[in-house]
Amino acid sequence: MDSIRIVGGRPLHGEIPIGGAKNAALPLMAAGLLTEDRLLLTRVPRLADIETMSSLLAQHGIAVERTGNDGRSLSLGGPITNTEAPYDIVRKMRASILVLGPLLARMGEARVSLPGGCAIGTRPVDLHLKGLQQMGAEIELDFGYVVAKVAGRLRGATIIFPMPSVGATENLLMAASLAEGTTLLRNAAREPEIIDLCHCLVAMGARISGIGTGELVIEGVEKLHAATHAIIPDRIETGTYACAVGIAGGDVVLRDARMEHLGAVARSMEDAGILITEVPEGVRVRRANGLHGVDVMTEPYPGFPTDMQAQFMAMMVVAEGASMITESIFENRFMHVSELTRMGARVNVHGSSAIVRGVDSLHGAPVMATDLRASSSLILAGLAAKGETVVSRVYHLDRGYEDVEGKLSAVGARVERFSE
Ligand code: EPZ
Repeated sequence: MDSIRIVGGRPLHGEIPIGGAKNAALPLMAAGLLTEDRLLLTRVPRLADIETMSSLLAQHGIAVERTGNDGRSLSLGGPITNTEAPYDIVRKMRASILVLGPLLARMGEARVSLPGGCAIGTRPVDLHLKGLQQMGAEIELDFGYVVAKVAGRLRGATIIFPMPSVGATENLLMAASLAEGTTLLRNAAREPEIIDLCHCLVAMGARISGIGTGELVIEGVEKLHAATHAIIPDRIETGTYACAVGIAGGDVVLRDARMEHLGAVARSMEDAGILITEVPEGVRVRRANGLHGVDVMTEPYPGFPTDMQAQFMAMMVVAEGASMITESIFENRFMHVSELTRMGARVNVHGSSAIVRGVDSLHGAPVMATDLRASSSLILAGLAAKGETVVSRVYHLDRGYEDVEGKLSAVGARVERFSE
């Protein structure tokens, strides 16, 4: 089991390459189930979750080959030979539920393990299931599995989400693209990853309007065909390294990052005293003077993303003054707080809000990663801490970040990975 050691106190200077977005790549890979032709995805990050999705698709019969001289292209294709998604894969990655809609649309049946909860919350999938039922699917729960079937094709329907759900929007978007008739998704999620999926589906022959809005209209077609699609850069990886500069100080260009995807994160960072500007290579982040406390509340896009909450808190911990951080999306996403506290942070959690009182300095400590974004926040805190911080269980980190130690070392941080 790997750990990462950080010796803090060094500002960051230089350039960090931003990879393809994990949360775009995963639904895009599931879209490979929608056609018997080949789907070619480029700018695919090298992450544990991508390998998990590849093995899930492979056991459905979809061959997934890494191609391209940079090894960052995936070619997906082949007949579907199995419509079951087993528990031992799904439990490792909740995004596995995204094969449900495509399998049902292509094969008329699917048996997908319920993902179960995870560290940050119960993570139900009721909105996915209700939407598919509205499209004519018969759905039963059987020994922890979703058993779904439909006679003939799914039928278009008007589906109104009580709250925006990224995964439910993606599952139903893919199912609707092959349904008979027109589907309306109202109060749909609007994340850039949803827009990216829509662009890929349209390239495959889907008919989608309202892209980028909360109201998507999908006219089902009989078949989808081959396409090539470049995945958008990862806005959460971008925000994470922007917080690294905020915490450690310095001046870094995040290469290939897209300013227009940062929205609320960029605004909050500017309010905290960080200079974040668009440059031809991507996004430049500088910390000129001190940091000051800023209140944030996580919301569906275009609000402040919940996936940036832990990283922003790590930065607020060393800011001047207080900040209130409210997590409104997931019910248990403050597990980084106890570990940050061990490093000298002053954070009090009251229900879904955390009051952070900035401290002059943190001290290094052995800390433990509990989930993907919490682990990145501990790495960030280590950059500012006096002395050595060791973050254990970094397999959490490897799910969503590629080569953190290499990218941070390249801009001057003292970060190394070692096996316990
Ligand atoms: C996606 O998860 C992301 N994962 C998450 O990123 C991200 O935190 C989340 O969207 C919110 O932005 C991927 O894209 C692979 P939701 P998802 O459905 O689709 C409730 C990371 O760190 N809900 O938008 O599961 C749910 O409990 C991960 O990269 C229902 O009640 O999120 C939550 O409170 C973590 N019923 C809220 O909606 C449902 O059927 C938003 O969840 C579905 C969701």
